[in-house]
Amino acid sequence: MVEIKKICCIGAGYVGGPTCSVIAHMCPEIRVTVVDVNESRINAWNSPTLPIYEPGLKEVVESCRGKNLFFSTNIDDAIREADLVFISVNTPTKTYGMGKGRAADLKYIEACARRIVQNSNGYKIVTEKSTVPVRAAESIRRIFDANTKPNLNLQVLSNPEFLAEGTAIKDLKNPDRVLIGGDETPEGQKAVLALCAVYEHWVPKEKILTTNTWSSELSKLAANAFLAQRISSINSISALCEATGADVEEVATAIGMDQRIGNKFLKASVGKYSFLYVTQVTNASSFIEELCFLCNLISLKKKKDFKSGTGGLCFQVIDMNDYQRRRFASRIIDSLFNTVTDKKIAILGFAFKKDTGDTRESSSIYISKYLMDEGAHLHIYDPKVPREQIVVDLSHPGVSADDQVSRLVTISKDPYEACDGAHALVICTEWDMFKELDYERIHKKMLKPAFIFDGRRVLDGLHNELQTIGFQIETIGKKVSSKRIPYTPGEIPKFSLQDPPNKKPKV
Ligand code: NAD
Ligand code: UDX
Repeated sequence: MVEIKKICCIGAGYVGGPTCSVIAHMCPEIRVTVVDVNESRINAWNSPTLPIYEPGLKEVVESCRGKNLFFSTNIDDAIREADLVFISVNTPTKTYGMGKGRAADLKYIEACARRIVQNSNGYKIVTEKSTVPVRAAESIRRIFDANTKPNLNLQVLSNPEFLAEGTAIKDLKNPDRVLIGGDETPEGQKAVLALCAVYEHWVPKEKILTTNTWSSELSKLAANAFLAQRISSINSISALCEATGADVEEVATAIGMDQRIGNKFLKASVGKYSFLYVTQVTNASSFIEELCFLCNLISLKKKKDFKSGTGGLCFQVIDMNDYQRRRFASRIIDSLFNTVTDKKIAILGFAFKKDTGDTRESSSIYISKYLMDEGAHLHIYDPKVPREQIVVDLSHPGVSADDQVSRLVTISKDPYEACDGAHALVICTEWDMFKELDYERIHKKMLKPAFIFDGRRVLDGLHNELQTIGFQIETIGKKVSSKRIPYTPGEIPKFSLQDPPNKKPKV
């Protein structure tokens, strides 16, 4: 039986940081070192202000940092000392060359494999935690085999991470399952058991699933594809609801009570996957990224069947996501009397979901883009996303042109400031605090008619109250018919599914 006493995790991001902090917290006798090439990120992990926001993370880190949890830029030493190395680096969508915008960029994984073999002698377990295309473990192994040394014995495992941001600590402490894939050889199985023993410190044995390497790698991609399809399905129903007078929340409750379907992941919203903003894509973007991997795999093997087969389904999911965002932007413009040019619009929420400061692939970026393209002045507020991040995201060449951001975007210090003098407020992230705002105070300071566009259904239950105050409410997946101010419809901007995502909407 191999005993893991020292763990090195390469990659101190949204996965590596929380995952290894929880391992250190749950396994006081294991020494865990999280390493990264990004010095400022490591400095932040060693400071009172952690580089990422996750509920409960700070407490976990502070309980073991400096005892059995360390953050360092000394990658080589940490690899050398470790019995087990997690690879938790980013695996973004390629932004260049073959497979651009579709395939996974595995250069960071390869760099890790090379660094691990350089710094290893004897026995070590190397574990993929990053989300990778199926058979990535084979590529890692080939790099190891081509650089072999006497007595070197590197076992490769797959242990994909299923945490979702915003609930990472909860997910890690109480996972639905832990998946470990390894070689079916005795050596491979020995490594699998060693990693199982780490998780058995706190995860019940029946939740630890062991499979062969390829099933483990593919299960991660398949799980994400299923989740993406589910949101995509409910989002498509939301469009029907808006057209027919049905309410998507009521429909979701009704279908979710069918035990074959279940009630989770049925919340219609402005979604988050698209091929456009691919530079920094990893997690938040994980759905899209992982769909890309899936597409990549299929396109390499069976190019012809790709569009009509699994790949086609993936692309429809992505199209649906894009359509949902464009539809929502279009609804804002339509409701604001067909023009937002020079109008002040408050954007509440910039993170891709609540309880995280992560903005990668956030729908707020796309909604902001569509409104900026129409010349709207945006006043953006998010409780956790730093001002600089919003500016960086909106300044991406795929999002805005020339001086659009400096001309059209203001970052507000609180939601009231953002809404002061605005024609409309648009909720893009479901932060709980948006349910608690003083809407009378907000309404007084807004131009009339004052519009609320709820892209996250956070204000459900407050509609009567808000309408009594005088707001016009437009919400995803529901046709709001009462108290709507009549106007003469002009030409409504139409967004076609075929439009490339960075193309200006047709007006
Ligand atoms: P991230 O960008 O937050 O962090 C990755 C870190 O790896 C960065 O800090 C980067 O500097 C570092 N890095 C890259 N190459 C390196 C190298 N050669 N040596 C040392 N450090 C290096 O990414 P993330 O969100 O933590 O995602 C990591 C992986 O986990 C991805 O494959 C992602 O798809 C997967 N994943 C993410 C989530 C999530 O919710 N974030 C959930 C499940 C799986
Ligand atoms: C996802 C997967 O859930 C996780 O297993 C994987 O490891 C990484 O990718 P994450 O992207 O962090 O996690 O968040 P998730 O909760 O899955 O939400 C993704 C997006 O879908 C968010 O923008 C969220 O607001 C949205 N969403 C989620 C909905 O619109 N409706 C829902 O019912 C659920």
